[in-house]
Amino acid sequence: MIFRQLFERESSTYTYLLADAVTHQALLIDPVKSELPAYQQLLRELGLTLERVLETHIHADHITAAGSLREATGCKTMLGQPTVSTCVSETFREGDRIAVGDLALQALYTPGHTNDSYCFLLEDGGRHLLFSGDTLLIRGTGRTDFQNGDAAAQYRSLQRLLALPEDTVVYPGHDYKGWTSSTIAEEKAHNPRLQVADEAAYVRQMANLKLPNPKWMDVAVPANRACGEE
Ligand code: FE2
Repeated sequence: MIFRQLFERESSTYTYLLADAVTHQALLIDPVKSELPAYQQLLRELGLTLERVLETHIHADHITAAGSLREATGCKTMLGQPTVSTCVSETFREGDRIAVGDLALQALYTPGHTNDSYCFLLEDGGRHLLFSGDTLLIRGTGRTDFQNGDAAAQYRSLQRLLALPEDTVVYPGHDYKGWTSSTIAEEKAHNPRLQVADEAAYVRQMANLKLPNPKWMDVAVPANRACGEE
């Protein structure tokens, strides 16, 4: 497998490039529009054909490169159901297998941060990799106060992720401190948001965060509904 973790500085977003090392078919998870030239360069230099662009959810803090990549490469763009996207090529739902060459990602519906939030689980030679979007962050969790966020639903989604094998490697959608990956065991033990007794305590914790809205929210959400093309 070819694997790259790419970083966009302004919104501290991680984008993941995964490709079948034999067939050179590739997919990108959560690409950012401003990084389009870098993705195109990397795909070209590694000799990869981009087949799919997957989003973990509709983002509020950056504009997706999905539409531009589709235009440039003919790839399919994908979001999970339910979605308000008006232009996505295909949707997926809980349990779906999304394949590119020999790679197969399993879609896990993990609502809470938004009601369209998914994680992707990849098994690679006995290893488990979890692309956790903004559901599970390193020592944090995604906020639940807009885009149909729901702290109780997120608590239940997180319980599901915490039941994965402990050595599952967690690759989040963002990190604001430069941490690149974690594991389920590590997050269970050290993620402060997860050290709560029950769902009600988690909901109280999330209600007390009182975070300012993301800088780009009013621009990014409508643009991302339109695949980043507005
Ligand atoms: Fe998000």
